[in-house]
Amino acid sequence: MDLFDQGYALDPFPAMAALRENEPVKYDENTGLWLVSRYEDVRAILLDPENFLPDNAIDAVGRFSVPTLRVLARVKFDLPQTLANNGSETHAGFRRIMTRLLNAQAVNASVPMVEKVVAQSLDEVEERLAADGVCDLATTLARDVPFQVMLRLLGLERAIDVDIDTLARWSDASLELFWGRPRRGREVELAREAADFYAWLTGLVQQPDPQDGTLLGALAAHRLPDGEPLSVAQAAAVVYFMIIAGQMTTTQMLSTMYRRALEVPGLWRQFAAEPGTVEPWTEEMLRREPPITTWRRVTGRPMTLSGVDLPEGAPLLLMLASTGSDPDVFERPEQICPHRANVRKHLSFGVGRHRCSGAELARMEADVVMRMTAARLPDLRLADDSTPEMLALLSFRAPLHVRVERG
Ligand code: HEM
Repeated sequence: MDLFDQGYALDPFPAMAALRENEPVKYDENTGLWLVSRYEDVRAILLDPENFLPDNAIDAVGRFSVPTLRVLARVKFDLPQTLANNGSETHAGFRRIMTRLLNAQAVNASVPMVEKVVAQSLDEVEERLAADGVCDLATTLARDVPFQVMLRLLGLERAIDVDIDTLARWSDASLELFWGRPRRGREVELAREAADFYAWLTGLVQQPDPQDGTLLGALAAHRLPDGEPLSVAQAAAVVYFMIIAGQMTTTQMLSTMYRRALEVPGLWRQFAAEPGTVEPWTEEMLRREPPITTWRRVTGRPMTLSGVDLPEGAPLLLMLASTGSDPDVFERPEQICPHRANVRKHLSFGVGRHRCSGAELARMEADVVMRMTAARLPDLRLADDSTPEMLALLSFRAPLHVRVERG
């Protein structure tokens, strides 16, 4: 089993089922990680942050080469504990900043803004379809909408002096560098992009007089439990994580949803005619095909899981995508059943102390984007029914392209 393989990314379900059935806690030689695939085990781990620490959550999968380390050292690249990788007493404060900006009320209030951003992006999709006959939704609307929404919600749009293409290139490179298995030459290239990103972020978080009510304003005003302000590295790490977490995941979610919605005969037309059916379908898609397929933890002391003894310091790969297809929890998991009773019980946003702060935003974006696209372009169809090329990283999975045309 190769977690980076295109075949696995295309159809990981049989391999995940075999793991759950036969080896629910299995050491993977390729990555040096313990694969944990059953729902109950993963949930118990996420709810026990004292014994299963988040410290390795955003570590690079492999060991970097010396040239790569040199490139990163030149900009003093450092991601200290802030959000997802923070099991210390400083986590709660960082998390409060996110909750203030992304709580349900803020998300609800932003619906008109999101609708406007989607409408503008749909104008561009329509223009491309008229001009070229085909448009790739993965690299246009699904990429641009989450960026614009996230920048506006976090109040970053005015502070930013680079375009979305640059941010997307930096984010893509960072994702592949930390969660991929790039060859040596490529690894250095990716590190250069990540280093440029980081250098730019350290400048951004030091801009004078950041506005109140924005992410930068909140980071500047924040005090750690010892009364100290954030270091530049801490503030840069938060913005780095947020730009990646807030955009890439949502782009991947939308790409997967577009592809599936257009593959199933009649479903797209149904979404156009009955927009109320979109939201429960997107929830089921999050269960069955989450964009974040795995997340990491490390044991804080010797632990036993599904009968397997693990030493202290054992790095675990929690297979979130597998938990959403665990038949002990979700009956007939292969079927997308928008009305299943436990539709929201999935772990695709995590659970417990580190549960995704952007879950409600991602859900709202899925509903608005799918609903508005189907309403505006009910005759859309896939322009290419060949096997899609997949983003196949340790923790991220999505089709890289969704080319569409009008039928
Ligand atoms: C479909 C899209 C998304 C998925 C599937 C997703 C999933 C996740 C997962 C699995 C975690 C780790 C949970 C854990 O350790 O228990 C996480 C953490 C986090 N996510 Fe998301 N996420 C998505 C979108 C977003 C968005 C749009 C934002 C913000 C704009 C965001 C912000 C965060 C933050 C701040 C954390 C760290 C929370 C903490 O450690 O306290 N995410 N997300």
